Amino acid sequence: MPHAPLPALPCYLNGEYTLLADAKISVMDRGFIFGDGVYEVVPVYSGQPFRFAQHMRRLDRSLKELRIDNPFTADQWLEIIRRLLTEYAHAQTGSGEQTEQLIYIQLSRGVAMRDHAMPKGIAPTVFVMCNAMKLPVARQLQEGVICVTADDFRWEKAHIKSTSLLGAVFSRQISVDAGALETIMFRNGYLSEAASSNVWVVKDGVLKGPPNDNLVLEGIRYGLMEELCAEQGIRLELSRISRDQVLAADELLLTSATKEVLPVTLLDGQAVGNGRPGPVFAKLHGGYQAAKARARNPT
Ligand code: PDD
Repeated sequence: MPHAPLPALPCYLNGEYTLLADAKISVMDRGFIFGDGVYEVVPVYSGQPFRFAQHMRRLDRSLKELRIDNPFTADQWLEIIRRLLTEYAHAQTGSGEQTEQLIYIQLSRGVAMRDHAMPKGIAPTVFVMCNAMKLPVARQLQEGVICVTADDFRWEKAHIKSTSLLGAVFSRQISVDAGALETIMFRNGYLSEAASSNVWVVKDGVLKGPPNDNLVLEGIRYGLMEELCAEQGIRLELSRISRDQVLAADELLLTSATKEVLPVTLLDGQAVGNGRPGPVFAKLHGGYQAAKARARNPT
């Protein structure tokens, strides 16, 4: 069977700018053999990478965990991203006009003969691509989205944004099979996160999230929720949240680079709260859009 055709989109691979279909790596790349790598997904609004410094800091943290040196400074990453955004805009419109994109950055440990132990002194494989960003649609914001629950069967280093994502793939597929948008996971009866999003509970006007320890990926929206809550006068608490607390929530929210902030109104077939997006969602979503507007027009 042939591979799915790849769109004619620009990408960066190990110092070269090329097209997705032409970018090739070695079969001995440890990203391919072991999933031995890390990644970042950065939303871009009107040509401006959103919360770029925070994404760069998380990339550094992930790389440090894998004992891979970051080959670039944040400014050098930005230079690559800016060039890709320009090439992407030309490929899409021919005019250089920039809309909303998603930058995907991946580094793997590099190429070596297969051996589980981490080889020393090899150059990482560096890949960056730019895709169109699909933002939530009006209906999802007005009516909320459907989620299901499952046990968190992933490993205990969920804080690393690793390309070893089979656990996340399995988790997400549970919701696909159930016709839902996301799978909300529990480890030993406590909320961790969703397959590719963070999860937030609202009870009596307080926004609650799980502690950002090794069992969750600290989404860039963790920091943003903190700022938006301070702005909007919403109390925020990070603490362990039991399954019963999730089921008794007034509101349930998902956050991620592409989902921004989304209300969950149906969980395992039961209405969340009154089954409608709630007031805390409305405030946080409004605050999120205002933060984007500020980022589009940096002063
Ligand atoms: N996923 N938790 C997990 C497991 C994730 O994969 C993601 C993001 C998040 C939210 O992180 P952020 O707010 O930085 O997007 C939480 C990205 C979007 C992905 O894998 O495509």
